[in-house]
Amino acid sequence: MERSVVLAAENLNIAFSEGRREIPVVSGVSFHLREGEILGIVGESGCGKSVTSLALMGLLPKRTARISGSIRFQGEELTEYSESSWRKIRGNEISMIFQEPMTSLNPLFKVGDQLEEALRVHTKKSRKQAKEQALRMLAAVGLPRPEELLREYPHQLSGGMRQRVMIAMAMMLNPEILIADEPTTALDVTIQAQILALMKEINEKMNTSILMITHDLGVVAQTCHRVMVMYAGEIVEEGSVKEVFQSPKHPYTIGLLKSIPNTAEKKARLYSIPGQVPKPGSIKEGCRFAARCEHAFDRCAKESPELLKAGNHLSRCFLAEKGGLPDDRAAVKG
Ligand SMILES: Nc1ncnc2c1ncn2[C@@H]1O[C@H](COP(=O)(O)OP(=O)(O)OP(=O)(O)O)[C@@H](O)[C@H]1O
Ligand code: SF4
Ligand SMILES: [Mg+2]
Repeated sequence: MERSVVLAAENLNIAFSEGRREIPVVSGVSFHLREGEILGIVGESGCGKSVTSLALMGLLPKRTARISGSIRFQGEELTEYSESSWRKIRGNEISMIFQEPMTSLNPLFKVGDQLEEALRVHTKKSRKQAKEQALRMLAAVGLPRPEELLREYPHQLSGGMRQRVMIAMAMMLNPEILIADEPTTALDVTIQAQILALMKEINEKMNTSILMITHDLGVVAQTCHRVMVMYAGEIVEEGSVKEVFQSPKHPYTIGLLKSIPNTAEKKARLYSIPGQVPKPGSIKEGCRFAARCEHAFDRCAKESPELLKAGNHLSRCFLAEKGGLPDDRAAVKG
C-alpha cells in the first residue's frame, strides 16, 4: 500500500524583486513528500535548495519574495497562510534544522530554557512537564548528562552537540515533517555520520517525514529513500535513490555522481563538472544545463526539456527520448 502524501508542492515558482526586476530562482518545482519518507534535494550551491525549503516553512522575506504555485499540507494551502497561521504549524507540525545550529539556538539562553520554550509556545504544558520532555528529547538524541546540559549555554557545547540540541528542539513537539538544510555540512566526517544515523533513527522510530537538503550525494546515499536533483532552480531528475544511483539519466546527475570522492580508489584528482551554475536572471532559453553538458546538441540551445519519464524515473533531458545516454553506468565510472 502506498503511503499517504504529507506535503505536496505543485508548480512552485519563486522570484525575488530587485528594483523593478523580478529574478526567478525556483521554477516549476513539484514534489510529494510521503509519510515516513526521507526525500533528498541535491544540487550545487545556488540551485535554489534553501529558497525552496524556506518557502515550505513560510520563512521567505515577504517584502521581496514572490511565490506562485501551491504548497499543500494536511489539506490546507500554505501559500495563503497568514503569519499567525504559520506560527501555529512552524515547530509544531513542520520543523526545520539548519547547517549552523547557532542560527536556531539563542546564545543568550540556556539550553533548557530554549527547549522548554519550544514546547510552551505551542502547548499548555507546565514548566515541570516541559522540563521532563526536554530531558527525554536530549536523551533521545544521544546526549549524555541531560540534567546538566539543561543549565548550559550553546557556546559551551561542541558543534556536534549543538546540532543534537537543535534536533532535540525541532523534535520537541513530534512534528510530522522535519526539513533539514545541510544539517551536517559544518561537521567533521565522523560526527556527520553520527548525526545522519540519528536522523534515520528519528525517521524510523517516530515515522517523521524528512526533507533532506544537501549538496552531497554521499549524504543522500546514506539517508534518503528518494531524491530530487535540482539544477538552476529546476528539478532535473527524480526517482528512488537506488534507481538514480544505479541508472542516472540526466548528464548533470551523472556529473554529480562522478564528483563523489572515492576513497577506495584514491583517485589523484577528483572530477568536477566544468563551468558554473548560471546566475539567476541570466537564464536563457533552452536547457539550463546546456553550457556545461558534453552531450548538448542543436535542440538543447533552443528548447527547454520537460521533466519526463526516463526508464523507471524522471529526467529533464532530450536524450531520454532517444533512449538515454549510450551507457549511463559507464559514464559514471568514467
Ligand atoms: N533573500 C534573497 N533575495 C534575493 N536573492 C536570494 C535570496 N535568497 C537567495 N537568493 C538567491 O537565490 C538563489 C538560490 O539560493 P539558495 O540559497 O536557495 O541556493 P542553495 O541551493 O541553497 O545553495 P547553497 O548550497 O549555497 O546553500 C541564489 O542565486 C541566491 O543568491
Ligand atoms: S537536454 Fe541537452 S544540454 Fe540538456 S542535459 Fe540533455 S543533452 Fe545536455
Ligand atoms: Mg542552501
